[in-house]
Amino acid sequence: SERSFIMIKPDGVSRQLVGKIVSRFEERGYKLVAIKSLTPSPALAQEHYSDLSSRPFFGGLVKYITSGTPVVAMVWEGKDVIRQGRRIVGATNPLESDPGSVRGQYAVSVGRNLIHASDSFDAATKEIGLWFAETELSQYEPTTWNWVMADN
Ligand code: GTP
Ligand code: MG
Repeated sequence: SERSFIMIKPDGVSRQLVGKIVSRFEERGYKLVAIKSLTPSPALAQEHYSDLSSRPFFGGLVKYITSGTPVVAMVWEGKDVIRQGRRIVGATNPLESDPGSVRGQYAVSVGRNLIHASDSFDAATKEIGLWFAETELSQYEPTTWNWVMADN
């Protein structure tokens, strides 16, 4: 099954929302494949958001992500996790996010929207490779896996 790169941004760490955000993915039945906290270098942040390099907010976005308050970088695995991750996170602008989403529950500003989720298979592949070494990605089966994943 597929994997997505999910990152709690510095405002999420500073506001001590890590546990609540991690729980959304755990309780849905997704598998935690990798997790670490770090302050990314400007080069890493710029590469992560390279699609947005021409946008007026790019400089501020990189500054926010590299502020010195860490991010929590994660890889989650499971059925449809890329699309479902985007739904759990909510719309980019928290004022447009579903109130049941992370951004819709906890954020009001597009520049402080708490969390990132890969938006496609290609983005997930790029981002997982950028943030994690292959040796950091665990292979195991949660005890809940067969119950969560059953299709019949
Ligand atoms: P990510 O999951 O972080 O990639 O957000 P997204 O996919 O919902 O949005 P997008 O990739 O278009 O933008 C990346 C990030 O840039 C957003 O999450 C915001 O933090 C920031 N951003 C996007 N649009 C704006 C904007 O108009 N103003 C500001 N200040 N920040 C923006
Ligand atoms: Mg994006």
